[in-house]
Amino acid sequence: MSARTTRVGLLGCGVVGSGFVELLMREQSRIAARHGVALELGRILVRDGEKVRRHVDPRAVTTNAIDVLDGDCDVVVELVGGVECAGAYVRRAIRNGRDVVTANKALLAAAGRELFDAADRSGVAIGFEASVCGGIPIVRALQRGLAGDSVESLRGIVNGTSNYILSRMEDGLELDEALRLAQERGFAEADPSMDLDGVDAAQKLRILASLAFEEPIVATTVRGIREITRADIDDARASGVVIRHVASVTRVAGGVALRVAPERLTASDPLARVRDENNAVVIHGRAVGELLFLGRGAGSMPTAAAVLSDVIEIARSRRTAA
Ligand SMILES: NC(=O)c1ccc[n+]([C@@H]2O[C@H](COP(=O)([O-])OP(=O)(O)OC[C@H]3O[C@@H](n4cnc5c(N)ncnc54)[C@H](OP(=O)(O)O)[C@@H]3O)[C@@H](O)[C@H]2O)c1
Repeated sequence: MSARTTRVGLLGCGVVGSGFVELLMREQSRIAARHGVALELGRILVRDGEKVRRHVDPRAVTTNAIDVLDGDCDVVVELVGGVECAGAYVRRAIRNGRDVVTANKALLAAAGRELFDAADRSGVAIGFEASVCGGIPIVRALQRGLAGDSVESLRGIVNGTSNYILSRMEDGLELDEALRLAQERGFAEADPSMDLDGVDAAQKLRILASLAFEEPIVATTVRGIREITRADIDDARASGVVIRHVASVTRVAGGVALRVAPERLTASDPLARVRDENNAVVIHGRAVGELLFLGRGAGSMPTAAAVLSDVIEIARSRRTAA
């Protein structure tokens, strides 16, 4: 199979971006042989142009987004994060006729509808596998694997930081000690409120719900884990249950309801066994029955693998269209 070259422009080379660069270099020849697409890394946008970055050719680095967005790339990979700058970059990439891959659930939560409409009008794709549950290919499973079935329910643990904190509290730490450990290990942001207050989980659940259900979202309840104490954890243990931060979608009159909240789960619940920074999603399909997706929901390489899978899919469809 002869490989057609797809040039990839990268916005952001932090935790996920640097993993993406490393993974692309490692897998490049296998991807070409297996999928018939040659991926070539173009310019890389960063904030600090002086920082030494492993696996990165300093000549590719730029601090000017225009070098990536108006350059000669075919696909723009957005790994800057945040809403304002990232949104402006993605809009410009779409206007320029570039396919886009993003891991940015905050951007999709804030402006997803508008961006997908703009992409449709420009005839380009937006890949967002990495925006939910990091390395778990849940977006593709819902979009493709379950295309022939009706999803009856979906629930999961979609915020690895909260789950890590609850796991450490089960080991005897207080919430603030567990949070500090999560920050030291790179699982939590310096400002952890998006994780602790359930906002990050709600953003991901909104994306999953829009993939799994046609019905509109008519109600949303969001509670984080801030109020959970060691006493709650001990009380749960004494009652033979565990506390998990559960995100779920249920059908209600007129649409679906989203709920993100701590729940007490019995040992027979598949989500009860999910510990540490892992994520899991349980889906009931009318035909297929129960499916359990479990794995690393964040981190450099797992998330980079999801980003790269989107880039390969786009490169393959470009090859087919050519
Ligand atoms: N980390 C994870 O495990 C994970 C998992 C799933 C999804 N995500 C999503 O992936 C995205 C990236 O996350 P991350 O953890 O990789 O972030 P990060 O480590 O903070 O990296 C951000 C990168 O973007 C660059 N950048 C930020 N603002 C910029 C600006 N205004 N102009 C130019 N460059 C800018 C930074 O440059 P410098 O290097 O010079 O600072 C850095 O290279 C986010 O949307 C996040 O929600 C992350």
